[in-house]
Amino acid sequence: MAIRKVGVVGCGLMGSGIAQTCAQSGYETLVREINQQLLDKGIAHIYNAWDMLAGKARINRSQVDEYRARLHGTLDLADFADCDLVIEAVIENMEEKLRLFPTLDHILKPEAIILTNTSSLNVTQMGAVTRRPDKICGLHFFNPAPVMKLVEIVRTISTSHETIEAVKQFAVSLGKTPVLAKDTAGFIVNFLLIPYLLAAIRMLENGVATRDDIDTAMKLGCGYPMGPFTLLDYVGLDTTLWAAEAIYDEFKDPLYAPPPLLRRMVLSGMYGRKSGKGFYDYQSS
Ligand code: 3HC
Repeated sequence: MAIRKVGVVGCGLMGSGIAQTCAQSGYETLVREINQQLLDKGIAHIYNAWDMLAGKARINRSQVDEYRARLHGTLDLADFADCDLVIEAVIENMEEKLRLFPTLDHILKPEAIILTNTSSLNVTQMGAVTRRPDKICGLHFFNPAPVMKLVEIVRTISTSHETIEAVKQFAVSLGKTPVLAKDTAGFIVNFLLIPYLLAAIRMLENGVATRDDIDTAMKLGCGYPMGPFTLLDYVGLDTTLWAAEAIYDEFKDPLYAPPPLLRRMVLSGMYGRKSGKGFYDYQSS
């Protein structure tokens, strides 16, 4: 089946980046949020990114107009009825996903593919509440979604070979390099990245070194583009906590047990960049 129209559920940090990527890559893109304020905020974020790219002469004004014409917003999931493929990028909460998947299943045409951008939740469980588990898999993007080249395709025991092949082609058409992983918590990247980020927090808790020295050490010592605390704030401390909990729930490996400081920062609303404060303070910038 040719993919022409893509639906994206959620226009937050990841959903807006995914919708931007799809519209830039030539797809009619419809993005849904739960209220007008969040939708306007997400779409404004995408428009700003295109204006920034035009300002740097990476794209021209007529491309910006083309991209904008392909991107539409809605508050109503029923508008997804003619989408060929839908990417779910809502909050990392299984109950939320288990409400959304059967709803999408009823609205979409039978041949449509449904993908989840979950970073570590069980994709098989999301497929199991629909009548099309063969057409469901994970497509996990990395933040910032328009820039990062990787996507993880997450295959459940029910996903068909045809779906995997179609999703691989779709990923390549977005300019991404796909890698394939089984549906186990954390897939490839978060399974390796989360213990590193949690270890940095434990190191800070134990007073081994300062935040700034740990960040500098990993940037300059290992050539990472961001140190662990800058990256934690960038990804979101809430997202990191949910990912760590999901992987810990599955394997009960203490490496993934969230350190007390992380949990307390999230409880205090310190989510990182998106809330203005995390390990660093963004309120003045
Ligand atoms: N759309 C399109 N292009 C964009 C963009 C956007 N929204 N935002 C930035 N860009 C482009 C810029 O124009 C720039 O392009 P240019 O080199 O042609 O000028 C390029 O991206 C780099 O942007 P900047 O110059 O603003 O910034 P940096 O060079 O400092 O790079 C970064 C920023 C790419 C974020 C880099 O610091 C980085 O790679 N950091 C690590 C990010 C990372 O590890 N992400 C994965 C997190 S894990 C995750 O997401 C999984 C989850 O499940 C937890």
